[in-house]
Amino acid sequence: MSNPKDIFNRLFKEIHPQDRLFPKSEKGIGDFESEEILNTNIYNVMLNRRSQRKFESKYVEDWKLDIIFAAADTAPTAGGFQGFEIFHIKNHGIKIKLVMAANNQPYVNAPVVLVFCMNPSRVKMKFPSDTLKKFSIQDATLAAAYAQLAAHSLGLSSIWIGMIDEIKVMEAIGTNLFPSSILCIGYPKKILQPKPKRTLSELIQVIE
Ligand SMILES: Cc1cc2nc3c(=O)[nH]c(=O)nc-3n(C[C@H](O)[C@H](O)[C@H](O)COP(=O)(O)O)c2cc1C
Repeated sequence: MSNPKDIFNRLFKEIHPQDRLFPKSEKGIGDFESEEILNTNIYNVMLNRRSQRKFESKYVEDWKLDIIFAAADTAPTAGGFQGFEIFHIKNHGIKIKLVMAANNQPYVNAPVVLVFCMNPSRVKMKFPSDTLKKFSIQDATLAAAYAQLAAHSLGLSSIWIGMIDEIKVMEAIGTNLFPSSILCIGYPKKILQPKPKRTLSELIQVIE
């Protein structure tokens, strides 16, 4: 049992014998059946997600964005306080500033650019401020991860940007909230195969 593809395929067949997973192929998006593009099977989405740094200039439909935002909104948050904010950057000049704030990674200038920020002031719990900060970075990170999976379920691709100068990002988007990551989304230029991962025996450390 060596990688997610084997594990998902074996388990999924046991639970849903009539259904099937769609492992990714190197075909262009136009060659896919709509069922494969609007993929609502969470295991398919996990199986096929792959970081993408080359996007088509094609516009991303608003309804897809709404689903991505709704997905982010469903993520678990500390105490249910949703200690994060999402900045949807549409302005070209600000996207270019974000490229510079991200170590000049050019793909940050993507069709959809979302900056996930911590907002510990939303977390109304009686804990030290360091704890609230830890909670809000986890809230923001989880929301971005949910958004990333939703993007892939919609036939989009994404790249998670963690290599950022936080202060420059804050200046670029005009906030005093600390950013945790930037999620760049768009239609992929080419469908990429998922990267190999560790085996489960390497990943899991059993404590008995
Ligand atoms: C915390 C974090 C930070 C990352 N930062 C960057 C980044 O700044 N630039 C980039 O190109 N990719 C970045 N990535 C994407 C990873 O390089 C990518 O997820 C990894 O190579 C595994 O590939 P996969 O996502 O296709 O499985 C980041 C991912 C994570 C989770």
